[in-house]
Amino acid sequence: MIVYLAVSLTVLAQSARQQTTSTGKKISPTLFGLFFEDINYAADGGLYAEMIQNRSFEYTPADRREWHSLTSWEYITPVFSYGSLNVETNKPVHPNNPHYAVLTIEHVGQPGVGENSKIPENKGVPGVGVKNLGYDYMVVNAGEKYAFSLFACQLSATPVALTVSLQDPRGKILSESKLTVNSKDWNKYTATLTASERSDSTSLVILGTTQGKVGIDIVSLFPENTFKNRQNGLRADLAQLLADMKPAFIRFPGGCLAHGDGLGNMYRWKNTIGPVEQRVEQRNIWGYHQTAGLGYYEYFQFCEDIGAKPLPVLPAAVSCQNSGGTWRIGGTGQKAIPMDEMKDYIQEVLDLIEWANGSVSSTWGAKRAAAGHPKPFNLEFVGIGNEDKITPEFEERFKLIYDAVKAKHPEITVIGTVGPFPDGEDFTKGWKYANNLTVPMVDEHYYQQPDWFVRNQYRYDAYDRKQSHVYLGEYASWGNKLKNAISEAIYMTALERNGDVVDMASYAPLLAKKNHTQWKTDMIFFDNEKVCLTPNYYVQKLFTANQGDYYYDKIVSKNSKDSTLAASCVKDSKTGDIILKLVNGGTASQSMKIDLSAFKKLASQAEQVVIAGSAEAENTLENPQAIAPVQSKIKVSKSFQYNAPAMSLTVIRIKTQS
Ligand code: AHR
Repeated sequence: MIVYLAVSLTVLAQSARQQTTSTGKKISPTLFGLFFEDINYAADGGLYAEMIQNRSFEYTPADRREWHSLTSWEYITPVFSYGSLNVETNKPVHPNNPHYAVLTIEHVGQPGVGENSKIPENKGVPGVGVKNLGYDYMVVNAGEKYAFSLFACQLSATPVALTVSLQDPRGKILSESKLTVNSKDWNKYTATLTASERSDSTSLVILGTTQGKVGIDIVSLFPENTFKNRQNGLRADLAQLLADMKPAFIRFPGGCLAHGDGLGNMYRWKNTIGPVEQRVEQRNIWGYHQTAGLGYYEYFQFCEDIGAKPLPVLPAAVSCQNSGGTWRIGGTGQKAIPMDEMKDYIQEVLDLIEWANGSVSSTWGAKRAAAGHPKPFNLEFVGIGNEDKITPEFEERFKLIYDAVKAKHPEITVIGTVGPFPDGEDFTKGWKYANNLTVPMVDEHYYQQPDWFVRNQYRYDAYDRKQSHVYLGEYASWGNKLKNAISEAIYMTALERNGDVVDMASYAPLLAKKNHTQWKTDMIFFDNEKVCLTPNYYVQKLFTANQGDYYYDKIVSKNSKDSTLAASCVKDSKTGDIILKLVNGGTASQSMKIDLSAFKKLASQAEQVVIAGSAEAENTLENPQAIAPVQSKIKVSKSFQYNAPAMSLTVIRIKTQS
């Protein structure tokens, strides 16, 4: 189907000829988007703004061998208090959330007087309780408000008083609130904690300060300032960085995370909606824990908030063939939902479409409305499967799901899957299978060296436009140096040129938390307060925020023999703007000639953004500005020369005058 080399030579030969009048073609208006996977602590401890780690006491050794219900919690008994801490399951808040902590306060110490008050153990609020260490502690800022909540129930004859505080590493109280647990039923208690000063190593302390026994669960602390101030919301700085990119779509909740490494931890969307205390937590395939606090409702809401189309990926009823200790290329690692459960599974897929788009009077539309979103989410795309091994089990299940969606929801574009390129047979088998079924789009993935992206920039020129279209759902060059980002920029100009067959594309992975990274090349690195935007982020942003829906060829003339030079020109019909992307991946500056005579009424001044620097330059959390885009205004005319700096991407956006 794909004959790369022959086409590469043809394209080179064609572009070496004299430039003639520009012709154009419609391209996908949703070409560049984002792929969010809960990998590298991207969700819990990352984009999801919850500050308490293991808030529901649901961590287990299955998540990670050394983890348990009290991971990230410490038992404390300040001022010679004593009692006990247990984890119980007899009477949980909800069966989906079985574990909770039980504090028994037998004796509350008395702060010493006189000389005794100087004994370190005599300092602080006396009581029996727990301290949460957050995800590598918590950052609080002076004057900022934090929304605290917990579920609690009185297990003794008498009510129990609790003191909740934010404390710095020396035990200094930065904010405090008191509450009394006086119901034998589980109730939610809330408080607002305002930090008196900044601390980047804050803990949350809950102390029982009267004798008695109390159950606590779903202990939560959110900054009041979440993205768009949403409840159960997202970390404002990270979410804003993604919003700034203006992505056309967001694929979620992951690649391998979506199909899981066994039937036990496939991502089942219904487990992730509704009140957080009722969601089903589970082991994350990437070796940590998934609270599902950032669940389907939050993903869809975020897409809507930033104007991106939602692209949920559901398992094709088979799990990952490569992980969970079942790495047996050959197929035996893949687990399949039994055929007698497929009717229910297919219904689960159809229910998602109803949940997203159905009227409030439909069963699942009503659940969306009850969660606070009566209007539909306008779902257009559903991904089925991720890099699955193309086994008979996969084929049988995919077809059942695909046929059911097509029959009931012809308005939905189903995106199928092929194995990763170029390793293994599943890429070729997946394509053949998808084309036979006439699946509208398939999801290709590849991670390669930068020079691969330069050499293979003609890849899609050869794709048959009459077959399944492409969603390039995951790609990246191995590295976060400028040379990596520029190789991706060269490739992205080719994606625009082929935007009539490549309908969507997204870099991967997106987010990575310092010290919790499972995948070394990522777009944005972060810790609890800082972010590091890689050159790859800047390149992606320049393409996502400057997409078009019409592609023009022959606008830019360059030395056609130099494959490190690339360019594209698109028009954004919504604004009428003409957008040029000029890439130089070489070591010397290069001249490009731009001919805009095909366009009428162009403004003479344009917005220009340039990313340039040394090939080896990279940003870090400590030095995040080694590479940063430079914005300016430039004069443009019908015909002009542009001198593209060495190792650079330039985007020029020109308004058309009405
Ligand atoms: O992006 C990281 C992983 O790479 C994805 O989970 C998977 O789809 C691919 O193998």
